[in-house]
Amino acid sequence: MRLLTAALALGGLSTIAKAHEELDNSPKSQEPFVGWTKEDLDAKWGTDWGFSGISTFAHLPHTRCLQHPDEEYDIAILGAPFDTAVSYRPGARFGPRAIRAASSRQSSMRSYNPRAGLNPYADWAKVIDCGDIPITPFDNALALRQMTEAYTNLAHSKATAANAKSEVTYRNKPKLLSLGGDHSIALPTLRALSSIYGPVAVVHFDAHLDTWHPAKYPSAWIDPEDPTQQSFFTHGTMFWLAHNESLIAKDKSVHAGLRTRLSGIGDNEEDTSQGWIRFSTDDIDDLGVKTLAKQIVDHVGTETPVYLSIDIDVIDPGLAPGTGTPEPGGWTTRELIRVLRRIDALNVVAADVVEVSPAFDGSGEQTALAGAQVAYEILTSMVKRGKVGGKVEREPKTEL
Ligand SMILES: *[C@@H]1O[C@H](CO)[C@@H](O)[C@H](O)[C@H]1NC(C)=O
Repeated sequence: MRLLTAALALGGLSTIAKAHEELDNSPKSQEPFVGWTKEDLDAKWGTDWGFSGISTFAHLPHTRCLQHPDEEYDIAILGAPFDTAVSYRPGARFGPRAIRAASSRQSSMRSYNPRAGLNPYADWAKVIDCGDIPITPFDNALALRQMTEAYTNLAHSKATAANAKSEVTYRNKPKLLSLGGDHSIALPTLRALSSIYGPVAVVHFDAHLDTWHPAKYPSAWIDPEDPTQQSFFTHGTMFWLAHNESLIAKDKSVHAGLRTRLSGIGDNEEDTSQGWIRFSTDDIDDLGVKTLAKQIVDHVGTETPVYLSIDIDVIDPGLAPGTGTPEPGGWTTRELIRVLRRIDALNVVAADVVEVSPAFDGSGEQTALAGAQVAYEILTSMVKRGKVGGKVEREPKTEL
């Protein structure tokens, strides 16, 4: 596989011809496997089509990282199949599986991203699929504990030896990309990140604020003053909880793509008091992609550690129907991707793609495909940030 994969990654036909020649010259036998070296077998059988193979993200190698603490990697993709903290349609527990399936046309052989000039699966970073966190669907207190422990363990694991000592500091610690799951998985992730970086900025793409006070889901059964109550942990309140636990950097966080109804203007005031700024769905037309992206980067800065959180419902439900709390009138998939490309100067230390709920998706799996594509763009930007001194230009010169 090494030869052939390397040849294909480089796109060099002469290297492929050489691999072919070497294969032809290798011992031949009708006896099964006799005389074939590991390299021969890898060259013959070590590649997959988009439609073949066991489903990992982008056909990446799979390790159950939580059981293999010595595994080294630079970027870990981790599924969080959890959806028992949703307020409307459930089903995001099947998100990781659907996004992996939808990523199957990505692979290290053909994932060069022209806008960044690199293939995120064949560059400095060892990217692996760490599998899923096995999260209980029966007990959210236990689920939150499981996720907090899982994310904390993975966030503290080692980068590959060469990168752990790299002069490019961005490479020194492994990066996480979570596939949700409902959005509540951001709370345990922020706990893990905060244990390494201190409070981080959140750059949040979503139709909804998710900074709601938990008592905004009104109930005579709960005490609005007690943040330890289990019913406070939801996919619309996890950033309120994260702020309450001091996990979010002061006045550095941004929402983009907002368009939901509020319980009142007090929701926005509460959000402001938690240190966020807001860009609405309409701002993409009024400001344009470039200005919108620039204002995000200017506000956050390029050194602040960032948690990049993508709720797929930021996209219009006409293009991404497979989600739990759809809000008509959203961005196109292309608009989201264009904004993401133009904020690649951010110091993203972890990211998520959440709220993909495949039972509501179309037969063309458009929501899961959007999730997989967004994940690819995030991975590209992480790898780009780790190249050339760890900085990228704030204003990309070309719009590819
Ligand atoms: C967290 O919430 C509790 C209860 O509302 C409140 O007493 C406390 O001040 C909050 N902490 C922060 C840091 O916001």
